[in-house]
Amino acid sequence: MNKKLPIIIDTDPGIDDAVAIAVALFSEKLDVKLITTVAGNVSLEKVTMNTLKLLKFWNKKIPVAQGASEPLIRPSMDASNVHGNSGMDGYDFEDGDLSLLLKENAVEAMYKTIMSCEEKITIMPIGPLTNIALLLKVYPQVKKKIEEIVLMGGSTTRGNKGVMSEFNIAVDPEAAKIVFSSGVPIVMAGLDVGWKALVYPEDSAQIKTFNRTGDMLYSLFQHYRGRGLKNGLKMYDTCAVAYLLKPEMFEVAHTFVDIELVGALTAGTTVVDLKGYLKQTENAKVCVDIDQEMFKNWLLNALKKCI
Ligand code: BDR
Ligand code: CA
Repeated sequence: MNKKLPIIIDTDPGIDDAVAIAVALFSEKLDVKLITTVAGNVSLEKVTMNTLKLLKFWNKKIPVAQGASEPLIRPSMDASNVHGNSGMDGYDFEDGDLSLLLKENAVEAMYKTIMSCEEKITIMPIGPLTNIALLLKVYPQVKKKIEEIVLMGGSTTRGNKGVMSEFNIAVDPEAAKIVFSSGVPIVMAGLDVGWKALVYPEDSAQIKTFNRTGDMLYSLFQHYRGRGLKNGLKMYDTCAVAYLLKPEMFEVAHTFVDIELVGALTAGTTVVDLKGYLKQTENAKVCVDIDQEMFKNWLLNALKKCI
C-alpha cells in the first residue's frame, strides 16, 4: 500500500468545512496530523468547539490547536448568515472532547508538527489565511518542509463576499498576500470550481442513507443557506480535499496570483494573471474548472467511506 500523505487542516467549520473534514478523515490516502482553527465563518471559540464536536462524532483522536481570533489588520467579519449562528446549525452534536485541544496555539502546533514530520507536509487551509501567514512569518524555516499549500479561496472572476472578493480572502487579504508571496507551492481552489461542486436534493437524500455521517450532513444541509439546496449547495471546501485526492477532476492554470489590498471597491480580490500582463513569475496552480459529474460521483463514494 502507498504511504499516506501527511496533512494539516486549517479550518473554520462551517458546514462545507465539515464535509471536507469528513472526506479527509476517512480517506485511506491521507494522514491528518493536526487540525488548526481560525476565526472565519463564526468566532474562534465556536469554530474550535465545532471541530471538537466533529471529532467526537467520529471518535477520531486528532490534536486540535486554536489559532487567530481575528484577521491580521482588519476588523472581523463572519458568515453566520450562511452557516447559522453556531457555524454548524441543524444538528444536535454532543459536546466535544476538550482533551484533544492542545495548549499551544495553532502557529506553535503547526511548527512542531511540520518540523517533527519525517516527510514534507501538505497544508490544507479552508478558512481565512491568518494562521498560515503567521506561521510563515514567525517560522520561515517551515517553508522547505511544506510540500504544498492546497487552499480553498479566491476567484478568477467575481466574488461571493464582495463584488470581486471571495470570503476567505476577503476576511484577511493581508494574510492571503503573505501566503501567496511566500514562495511555498500553492494550489488555489476557488469559486471557479466551488460554484460547480454542487450537491442537489437527490444527492443529499442519497447521502443521508449512507451512514451516521450522511445523516448528520443531511441535517446540516437543510440549514446551509446561500441559494438553497434546490439550486445545488456549494461544497467549496471539499474542492481542496478533492484536489488532493483526485487532481484529474480539475483543469489547472499555472499562473501568478496577487491580492488586492488597497482597492476602494475591490480589496480582497485575487488578481489571477491568466494572460501574463504583470510579467511576474508563476506562484500558484489555480483550479479553473472541474468535471462536475466526476466530482459528484467522487464525493458520494468518499462519503460512503465515513462511519
Ligand atoms: C468559503 O467561505 C466559507 O463560508 C466557506 O466555509 C468556504 O471556506 C467559501 O467562500
Ligand atoms: Ca471554510
